Amino acid sequence: MDKATRLGVIGAGTMGAGIAQVGATHGHRTLVFDTDTTALERARAALERNLNRLVDKGRIEKSVAGDAYSRTKFVDRLTDLARCGIVIEAIVEDLDAKSQLFAEIEPIVAHECVLATNTSSLSVASISAACHIPGRVVGAHFFNPAPLMPLVELVPGVSTNEDVVAETRALIDAWGKTTVLAKDTPGFIVNRVARPFYGEALRIFEEGIANVPTIDWAMKELGGFRMGPFELMDFIGNDVNFAVTESVFAAFYFDPRYRPSFTQKRLVEAGRLGKKSGHGFYDYRDADAAAVPDTDTELGRAIVDRIVTMLINEAADALFWRVASRDDIDLAMTRGVNYPKGLLRWADEIGVGEVVSRMTTLQNTYNEDRYRPSPMLLRLASEGKGFW
Ligand SMILES: NC(=O)c1ccc[n+]([C@@H]2O[C@H](COP(=O)([O-])OP(=O)(O)OC[C@H]3O[C@@H](n4cnc5c(N)ncnc54)[C@H](O)[C@@H]3O)[C@@H](O)[C@H]2O)c1
Repeated sequence: MDKATRLGVIGAGTMGAGIAQVGATHGHRTLVFDTDTTALERARAALERNLNRLVDKGRIEKSVAGDAYSRTKFVDRLTDLARCGIVIEAIVEDLDAKSQLFAEIEPIVAHECVLATNTSSLSVASISAACHIPGRVVGAHFFNPAPLMPLVELVPGVSTNEDVVAETRALIDAWGKTTVLAKDTPGFIVNRVARPFYGEALRIFEEGIANVPTIDWAMKELGGFRMGPFELMDFIGNDVNFAVTESVFAAFYFDPRYRPSFTQKRLVEAGRLGKKSGHGFYDYRDADAAAVPDTDTELGRAIVDRIVTMLINEAADALFWRVASRDDIDLAMTRGVNYPKGLLRWADEIGVGEVVSRMTTLQNTYNEDRYRPSPMLLRLASEGKGFW
């Protein structure tokens, strides 16, 4: 695949529109299909607005923006995608809908056409099962907003051809993205490894160790994260974040490590979805309601140590189960969710032995399986080794 390859994007929502913009600005003739014509019109207007904004900011030349815009067609017939070399699907997160769509698009395109899915929580295997040639189906998980976020997780299913993975990776790399390879397991890399960022913060709050602004303050000021966990949940939307947690929890056959929180569930039930509804963990309707953190550094350090330890344990376990390589796990968390450091490198800085000792203390304190140290950490600690 190269610039002459036609790109098809199915689903003109948040992700589809963003992916189309990436492809079109990198020279591809891009065809965007959606069953909803108002979504197509919204996506067209958004593309125009975004390209103009990039020109205003001096990020791209006016001619590049004009070319990208004229290269993109918004179509209301799936058959218009017939000559595409790659089609990226970004429709609703529903297996029946995706299976039906893959069965419908496959006979329209050529045998060599790659069919990629942007699914965040379904298995690539289940989607590929709808195709006669399942080897051409691959996961290409972009992050929101697609034009800005550099990471793309490439996810081969059990049936995916190696050539399809290599070609898709080369194409997306040529778009200036950072690609990592992830096993077709729940949450892939980022949505799995990041769970404790929210889950352990909620737990610390629920136990009454610290309040919401204090935990956010500690994670930003002392931990170096760009946003605190509660700010981030409010930003993502508590409904969306809670749904991801529930889906990962169920997909792991209810492993207690991923158990969702009642606090967040109640906020969702009450309609306190976060920024978009004006109220979540924080109240956005009243500027005077600014929450004041307790800036006790000893307490702050304890909060950061506990959440970071749990994140490292999750990253180590992802490596143990060969979800991805050491390098890709660290890349995914720094480029996909802007963590200040790769978690495995962070483990080495703290010392793997110390991480194990912190996990063991948590496990002894709570007597819960949630705090079991990953066998990967135990192995490295006993050998006196680090990850890097
Ligand atoms: N939003 C995110 O942050 C994010 C991040 C990564 C991956 N994803 C995944 O990307 C996919 C799309 O998510 P989104 O947030 O862009 O959703 P969205 O609701 O913004 O857009 C989905 C679009 O798909 C269209 N659609 C539905 N069924 C269709 C069909 N059968 N054929 C053609 N079009 C159809 C809808 O009309 C809508 O315009 C999902 O699989 C989601 O899990 C989302």
